Amino acid sequence: MRRVTVLVLLLACAAARAAAAVVTDGLLPNGNFEEGPPKSDLVNGTVVRGANAIPRWETSGYVEYIESGHKQGDMLLVVPQGAHAVRLGNEASIRQRLAVTRGAYYAVTFSAARTCAQAEQLNVSVSPEWGVLPMQTIYGSNGWDSYAWAFKAKMDEVALVIHNPGVEEDPACGPLIDGVAIRALYPPTLAKGNMLKNGGFEEGPYFLPNASWGVLVPPNIEDDHSPLPAWMIMSSKAVKYVDAAHFAVPQGARAVELVGGKESALVQEVRTVPGWTYRLSFTVGDARDGCAGSMVAEAYAARASIKVPYESKGTGGYKRAVLEFAAIANRTRVVFQSTFYHTMTDGSLCGPVIDDASLVGLRKKTAGRRLLL
Ligand SMILES: *[C@@H]1O[C@H](CO)[C@@H](O)[C@H](O)[C@H]1NC(C)=O
Ligand SMILES: *[C@@H]1O[C@H](CO)[C@@H](O)[C@H](O)[C@H]1NC(C)=O
Ligand SMILES: *[C@@H]1O[C@H](CO)[C@@H](O)[C@H](O)[C@H]1NC(C)=O
Ligand SMILES: *[C@@H]1O[C@H](CO)[C@@H](O)[C@H](O)[C@H]1NC(C)=O
Repeated sequence: MRRVTVLVLLLACAAARAAAAVVTDGLLPNGNFEEGPPKSDLVNGTVVRGANAIPRWETSGYVEYIESGHKQGDMLLVVPQGAHAVRLGNEASIRQRLAVTRGAYYAVTFSAARTCAQAEQLNVSVSPEWGVLPMQTIYGSNGWDSYAWAFKAKMDEVALVIHNPGVEEDPACGPLIDGVAIRALYPPTLAKGNMLKNGGFEEGPYFLPNASWGVLVPPNIEDDHSPLPAWMIMSSKAVKYVDAAHFAVPQGARAVELVGGKESALVQEVRTVPGWTYRLSFTVGDARDGCAGSMVAEAYAARASIKVPYESKGTGGYKRAVLEFAAIANRTRVVFQSTFYHTMTDGSLCGPVIDDASLVGLRKKTAGRRLLL
C-alpha cells in the first residue's frame, strides 16, 4: 500500500518535472508565441480564454494573442519574431516554468513594444527576485526594444513571470511581448594581463536573431545580478548591448553603446592598492547604426578622468584611449559615460560605443623609489 503511494508520488513528481523545460541558450519553448491557442479559446478574435490556452505558457488576466498586421486604431502592429506576439493588459502576466541549475546565473532577453499607454512598465521575476523595467523612453525605432534581466537560480525549477503591473482605462492597452529567450551566464573570470573582468563585453545576454536593435541592459544595483557579468549599470537609464551581426563592434562579437548620456554609467569595481598607478585602456567608436555627431566618451577612476572626443559619421570606426590614475583606496570604480545625448534621425537614443577595456597595474610607489611590477 505504502509502496504504491510512493510510486504514485514519484510519478507525480516526474510528471511535474517533465512540464518544466530544461533551459538551453536561446528562445524558450514557444518563446516567440508561434504556437497559438485554438480559435475556440480566443474571445473577440484576440482575447485568450483560460490560463493554459497558449502552449507552454500559463497566463493570467487580460492577455491577447496578436497576429502581425493586427490593426489597433491607426496603428499596424508588427511582430519581430515570427508572426505572433502576446499583449499583457491590466495586471496580466505570462509565466513559464524552467528547469535550471541551482546556483547558476541566467540572463533573460525578451522584446517588448508599448502600445497606447505612455508610461508602461513590466515586472520580470523569478521568485524571489524581480525587477521592474520601465519602458517610457523610446530607444528603438520600430516600436520594439529588447530588454535583458538577470537572476540567480535559487532552486532547480523556477517560474519566469512577466507581469504588467499597470492599470489603464482601456484594458486592451499594455505592452506587446515577443521573443522570450534565456542564456546561462558564466561567472566572469580574470583574463591574463587584465584586471577588469569581461572587459571585452563578450559575456552577456542572448541576442534574438531578428532583433536588429540590440538589447537594452537596464540599471541594476548589485553587480552579481547584472546581465553583463562583472559590470553594473548605474544611474537611471539603460545601456545598449550590441552584437557584430547587426552593428559595428570594435573588438570581438559584442560591445556596449552608451545611449543614456550622463544618465547612465557603466561601472566595474576592482581591487587596487592605494598609491599604485594603473592604466585603463579602451576603445571608443560608433556602432554603424546611423548615430552621427560629435561624441565624447568619458572615463573616470579614482581622481582621474578623461574625455575622449569621437566624431561619428554613424558608419562604424573606433579609436583607442588611455587613462592613467593613482589609486586612492583598495577598491576603485572604473566608470564609462557619454557626455551627451545623441539621437538617430528617427528619434531613438544612441551614443558612443565602448569596447575592449583593460586595466593593468604599472608600478608601485615606495619611499623614494619606484618599483616596476
Ligand atoms: C468582447 O466584445 C464585447 C463587445 O465589444 C465586450 O462586451 C466583451 O467584454 C468582450 N469580451 C472580452 C473577453 O473582452
Ligand atoms: C527573421 O527574419 C527573416 C526575414 O525577414 C525571416 O525569414 C525569419 O523567419 C525571421 N526569423 C524569426 C525567428 O522570426
Ligand atoms: C514584482 O513581482 C514580484 C513577484 O510577483 C512581486 O513580489 C513584486 O512585489 C512586484 N513588484 C512590483 C513593484 O510590482
Ligand atoms: C581596505 O579594505 C578593508 C576591508 O576589505 C577595510 O577594512 C580597509 O579599511 C580598507 N583600507 C583602505 C586603505 O581603504
